Amino acid sequence: MCPTPSDDPLYQRLQALHALLHHHAHLYYVLDSPEVPDAQYDAWFEELKAIEAEHPQWRTPDSPTQRVGGRVLDGFDTVRHRVPMLSIRTETDTEASGALAFDARIRKELELGDDAPPVEYVAEPKFDGLAVSLRYEAGVLVQAATRGDGEVGEDVTQNVRTIGQIPLRLDSRQRPVPPVLEVRGEVYMRRDDFEALNARQRQRIANGAKGEKTFVNPRNAAAGAIRQLDPQIAASRPLSFFAYGWGEMTAPEQGGPAFATHFEGLMALRDWGFPVSDLVQRCTGAEALVAYHRRIGALRDQLPFDIDGVVYKVNRLDWQKRLGFVTREPRWAIAHKYPAQEQMTTVLDIEVQVGRTGKLTPVAKLAPVFVGGVTVTNATLHNEDEVLRKDVRIGDTVIVRRAGDVIPEVVSVVLPGVAPEQGAGTPTGPAGVAGPVRGPVFRMPTHCPVCGSDVVREPGEADHRCTGGLYCPAQRKQAILHYAQRRAMDIEGLGEKLVDQLVDAQIVRGIPDLYRLSLTTLANLDRMAEKSASNLLAALEKSKRTTLARFLYALGIRHVGEATAKDLARHFGSLDRIMDASVDELLQVRDVGPVVAQSIHTFFAQPHNRETVEELRACGVHWDDEAGSAAVPQTLLGKTFVLTGTLPTLSRDQAKALIESAGGKVSGSVSKKTDFVVAGVEAGSKLDKARALGVAVIDEARLLALASGSVEP
Ligand code: IVH
Repeated sequence: MCPTPSDDPLYQRLQALHALLHHHAHLYYVLDSPEVPDAQYDAWFEELKAIEAEHPQWRTPDSPTQRVGGRVLDGFDTVRHRVPMLSIRTETDTEASGALAFDARIRKELELGDDAPPVEYVAEPKFDGLAVSLRYEAGVLVQAATRGDGEVGEDVTQNVRTIGQIPLRLDSRQRPVPPVLEVRGEVYMRRDDFEALNARQRQRIANGAKGEKTFVNPRNAAAGAIRQLDPQIAASRPLSFFAYGWGEMTAPEQGGPAFATHFEGLMALRDWGFPVSDLVQRCTGAEALVAYHRRIGALRDQLPFDIDGVVYKVNRLDWQKRLGFVTREPRWAIAHKYPAQEQMTTVLDIEVQVGRTGKLTPVAKLAPVFVGGVTVTNATLHNEDEVLRKDVRIGDTVIVRRAGDVIPEVVSVVLPGVAPEQGAGTPTGPAGVAGPVRGPVFRMPTHCPVCGSDVVREPGEADHRCTGGLYCPAQRKQAILHYAQRRAMDIEGLGEKLVDQLVDAQIVRGIPDLYRLSLTTLANLDRMAEKSASNLLAALEKSKRTTLARFLYALGIRHVGEATAKDLARHFGSLDRIMDASVDELLQVRDVGPVVAQSIHTFFAQPHNRETVEELRACGVHWDDEAGSAAVPQTLLGKTFVLTGTLPTLSRDQAKALIESAGGKVSGSVSKKTDFVVAGVEAGSKLDKARALGVAVIDEARLLALASGSVEP
């Protein structure tokens, strides 16, 4: 007989460490609310490892050090389930009918009369992972098995032990643990963990790792991890767990617990240390089930994990027993599914669409498929990099996903296709092996498929864009609305609905057409009274007289906002000089960097854009400051001013215009970068701040002198 170690202080310490580590692992993994820093946990863990190294005979399977300790297996042993793992009948019916029909059937089978009270159910999410059965003897996890065919599964104990949320030993502090307990539940992968895992996998593949692949969805990733023969790999895959039931459990007569309801059982599982979803809810009567289905359906896309439906279970266990089961499906439960969010289909074509802002999006044209509740024939491929990363080509079989109102997307290729015309593509088999011939690799077009303008991709950006701007029909509505904006050409009355009508009826094909509108054309439009038609014509007429800065801004050149437009107008003084400026010349303008300069240059390099500008001038669009502004000497170039108080003659706006026309900038607050504070009567805290920072304070007279160039700044 070996001496009992219980009075050995080191053994007592080991026991204490077990308790500490179990407790804090539960706080960390299950309750998500750690109470000690990770470093403290690690220190305890190391201490325990050291004791176990010294006394290997004390190393028990429920030791917290034993989560990852197993060896690489040749294969999995089989496990016969003592209580079979049932499956659930599935309803894909509409919201109401599924739940109502289930409730009606239950009431009938339980022979409840019409005036019997409503039946109580437990409604739960149907987690999209894989079912496992966890066997605890005397409170210690001794075996974990997959469902298999329901009778015989695989022994995956080693891998399941690596899941932090699964207790290695039941918590007995709140209620006694039964001698035997089989917990049934779902191993799954959270969506964020899945994304991170796939990002890691992509990195590995990019670094040349062999045999690595990305996973199609969290369910597959979880299943793959559980079926790993190397527990080290399983341990590196982040898995989670929800308990939703139990199998074998010691009977009350043998010292096991006596539950009256399923819900009570779930609460006991929670006390023993298992995660039980907060979304589990008791529902009285069929209407409550319908409401639950609707509530969870609305939450579905925001949940941190995938679900594919909800499960309704009769709460009373004596009733469950009375209802029994038919062919492995209990009569007391059903799964009520939501429409699948992923389906397989084939790519018929890859088209490139041009959005309202000129962004080019590759779109897969699909063989119609029912997914996420609708028939989908188009799915976005986001951008060129995404298409190349997923290597999607015409003819491929792909997985399409549509979640909620989100635009359907192509997730991945499951089966590479064969080129529509054999021989047109490139062989993809290993060198020398005649592989199937796939279609060519996708490339973004170099010219806009809608208007033929150049397509550009700016450095550091994922998107390709059409440079056609106001000429491109795809961008027409957007361009017109931008042109008409108050801060651009200020055409009052030209709103979204009207632009839609004008463009859809092909009355306006380009911006110059706006100036060719007649009273009769306008008055014939829907909801257009003669009065508003003539008001619009007047607004159009008025807009013809503008400033160069406004006109430049109105053109909708990418990256050219109001401030840049003003700078450009001031710097060059004439539109022709801007249109002919080289990138280097554009770079001379204050605040214009390489991206902006290139964007302006490319815009005016498009013949259509130049034509549009000429047409607008021919229509009578003109500005007064074209010659004039260049004449204003840029005496305040690079200087920043702050205005405070009331000036003797100039209004705030006039002072601002004066400074800006001379090349200066006006800022709202005083900082070390401020060059001058212009102070008037009742100047406030800005003046104090200027003094504190040692910024020059001047009056209106001095400002006028500086601007006119009669004194040097
Ligand atoms: S109860 C007797 N509850 O759905 C009922 N199953 O066919 C036994 N599942 O793969 C299962 N969430 O893993 C139950 N809240 C839940 C569930 C759930 C997901 C899975 C289960 C099995 C399938 C049942």
